[in-house]
Amino acid sequence: MIEVRELTKRYGAVRAVDGLSFEVKPGYVAGFLGPNGAGKSTTMRAVLGLDAPTSGEALVNGRRYAGIKRPMFEVGALLDANAVHGGRSAVNHLRCLARSNGIGLKRVVEVLEQVGLAGAAKRRVSALSLGMKQRLGVAAALLGDPGVLLFDEPVNGLDPEGIRWIRGLMRGLAAEGRTVLVSSHLMSEMALTADRIIVVGRGRLILESSMRDLADRFKRDVLVRTPDVAGLRSVLENAGASVSVDDGALVVRSLEAADIADLAARHGIAVHELTPRSATLEDAYLELTEDSVEFRTAEVAR
Ligand SMILES: Nc1ncnc2c1ncn2[C@@H]1O[C@H](COP(=O)(O)OP(=O)(O)OP(=O)(O)O)[C@@H](O)[C@H]1O
Ligand SMILES: [Mg+2]
Repeated sequence: MIEVRELTKRYGAVRAVDGLSFEVKPGYVAGFLGPNGAGKSTTMRAVLGLDAPTSGEALVNGRRYAGIKRPMFEVGALLDANAVHGGRSAVNHLRCLARSNGIGLKRVVEVLEQVGLAGAAKRRVSALSLGMKQRLGVAAALLGDPGVLLFDEPVNGLDPEGIRWIRGLMRGLAAEGRTVLVSSHLMSEMALTADRIIVVGRGRLILESSMRDLADRFKRDVLVRTPDVAGLRSVLENAGASVSVDDGALVVRSLEAADIADLAARHGIAVHELTPRSATLEDAYLELTEDSVEFRTAEVAR
C-alpha cells in the first residue's frame, strides 16, 4: 500500500508537488498521469526516500521509506533505466544488488528470465539498448520480491512487443495482490493497463478515479440510425432528450441507449443502429489537464 498525504516538495521557488494526497491499494495497477513537470517523478522519489518532503509524507505499508528495515523486500522501483553502472554485466549488476541486500543469487537467475534478459545476461550494461536497460531495471525492482512496485514511465524505449510484455507484467503483479504505481503521459496506454488513475497537474491532484468511472464521466452521446428520423426524433425530444441530425443519423444526448431502444420499441419505430459514444480517454485526459500544462508546445504560425 502506498499513501501520499498532503505531500509538498519545493525546489527553491518551484512547487514540484503541492499538497498532494492519494492512496494506492494492493491488487491494483494505479496509473499516475500528468503533463511534463507535473510532479510525478518527484512524488515517486519522495515515496522511495530519495527526496525529503518539504511537508507532508509519503508512506509505504504505513512507514516512511527510511524506517523500512529491508527495503528491497518491501518496495521495488524503476525510476531511471540509465541510472546503472555501465561497466558491469547485467548479471553482475543484479548479483551486486542481491548480495548487498541479503538476497540469494538464485533469485538473480529467476528475475533475468522473468524479464527476458537471460540471453543477454553477460553483456555489459553500457552495451544494452534502452529497452534492454528498462528490462534490467524491472529485474532489479523485482529482485526482493516486493509487494509494492513503482515504475516511472516504463514503456519509454520499449518496442511494441516490450510494451505488451510490461503491460502483462504489471497486470500480473497486481493480480498477485501487489500494489503497482506506474507513471505515464499516455492515457491510451493507461486505459489498457490501469484499474485506477491519479491525474496530477502542477503538483496538484486533478482527479483520482477508477478507469471505468472516468469513461462514464466522459460519455458523450448516442448515435441512432432509423428509417423514421422525424418520428423518432419527436419521440425522443418529448422524452426530454436533446437531439440533432448528423449525416442522416440522430445524435442523442441525455438519454441512455437502453432508454432510446425502449422508447422506439414502444412507438413501433425500427432502429438500425444504436451506438453509445464517449470522448476518447485521450480527450478526457487533455480536457482534465488543459489548465495545468506547464510546457505547452508553441503553436506554429501559419
Ligand atoms: N532536482 C530538482 N531541482 C529543481 N527542480 C526540480 C528538480 N526535480 C524536479 N524539479 C522541478 O519540479 C517539477 C516537477 O518535476 P517532475 O520531474 O517531478 O515532473 P514529472 O511529472 O515527472 O514530469 P515528466 O513527465 O516530464 O517526467 C518541474 O517543474 C521540475 O522542473
Ligand atoms: Mg518524470
